[in-house]
Amino acid sequence: MIMPPAPPLTAAKTLAPLLLLLILTGPVFCWRPWPTTKPNSTDILYGGSKRYEGSSEFVHLKYHMGPVLTANITVYPIWYGTWQPSHKRIIREFISSISAADSKPPSVAGWWRTVQQYTDQTGDNITRSVRVGEEKNDRFYSHGKSLTRLSVQSVIKSAVSAATRPLPVNPKSGVYLLLTSDDVHVQDFCNNICGFHYFTFPSIVGYTLPYAWVGNSAKMCPGVCAYPFAVPEYIPGLTAVKSPNGDVGVDGMISVIAHEIAELATNPLVNAWYAGGDPVFPVEIADLCEGIYGTGGGGSYTGQMLNGRDGATYNMNGIRRRFLVQWVWNHLLNYCTGPNALDH
Ligand SMILES: *[C@@H]1O[C@H](CO)[C@@H](O)[C@H](O)[C@H]1NC(C)=O
Ligand SMILES: *[C@@H]1O[C@H](CO)[C@@H](O)[C@H](O)[C@H]1NC(C)=O
Ligand SMILES: *[C@@H]1O[C@H](CO)[C@@H](O)[C@H](O)[C@H]1NC(C)=O
Repeated sequence: MIMPPAPPLTAAKTLAPLLLLLILTGPVFCWRPWPTTKPNSTDILYGGSKRYEGSSEFVHLKYHMGPVLTANITVYPIWYGTWQPSHKRIIREFISSISAADSKPPSVAGWWRTVQQYTDQTGDNITRSVRVGEEKNDRFYSHGKSLTRLSVQSVIKSAVSAATRPLPVNPKSGVYLLLTSDDVHVQDFCNNICGFHYFTFPSIVGYTLPYAWVGNSAKMCPGVCAYPFAVPEYIPGLTAVKSPNGDVGVDGMISVIAHEIAELATNPLVNAWYAGGDPVFPVEIADLCEGIYGTGGGGSYTGQMLNGRDGATYNMNGIRRRFLVQWVWNHLLNYCTGPNALDH
């Protein structure tokens, strides 16, 4: 395989699903986050089947025979930059909620059940079990406050080769989650990217490890990456909703983290589950449902979410907390699903 100059954009790009454009014209580099520049493109796409969010005959999600994460997943967070303990706790509790079967429905574990329906070529399902493993703090910005897609891999190398308490090397069931604080710029962050996933190159890191990066957008572009807890200034008439854990940047990261973990599980080496003809620009199970959080979602509408007594907006419950998480593609039903779907 020819090593691409930079990892492809298997990314949580934007909030408005410009799916039609993507499917019909291939990769689009200059996606605007919000709203869709073609207000009616989603009518074309979704119009025929209002009953099911994101349902479309244009979508041909295919399995390309590569591995998926069937063994119990361990997520290794790398906290890059300045992180408050309270913020770390929200993110850890979200990850732990993925396999917390006793959360009140609609639950994060219920959301993960759609991901579990994907299998590898032997018929093994994606694991039910996702836990938080060892963590690494990179408090002093080891690679500066501006990272590229390649220097992101160097940060991971530093974490697995640190002199003290290196992260374990776990290529089979480890997911390395690089989380950058709100003062760190990452290549393409805010323009069209809120997070991405890929695998590390042996030439840089020494191993092939599935990883994801997600940035805290609070200072740079909350209207892009923490929508709907913040809205872009250039769109009149949009109102932000209250976030469930009291922090716009971190609450906004949750859905992007969910997006990336779901895609890592189903497409860790970018040769398993994706749609689209070009493996350099795969369209994966969360890409297909970006911006959809509830029944009726699609286009510029998030779909029906839940409102807490405190006025916060969310769509699922986890351990001690509520979260707002985008839906993912259900390949058995051929539409986006989530645990808060209303019965039709
Ligand atoms: C979208 O198209 C429908 C007809 O399919 C039309 O009624 C509606 O006004 C259009 N919406 C916008 C925002 O142009
Ligand atoms: C495993 O995957 C199959 C095929 O998609 C699905 O029918 C089944 O419900 C899945 N099992 C679990 C436990 O999710
Ligand atoms: C995977 O996790 C489950 C709990 O979710 C546990 O019972 C099981 O022993 C684990 N399997 C392995 C191989 O670690």
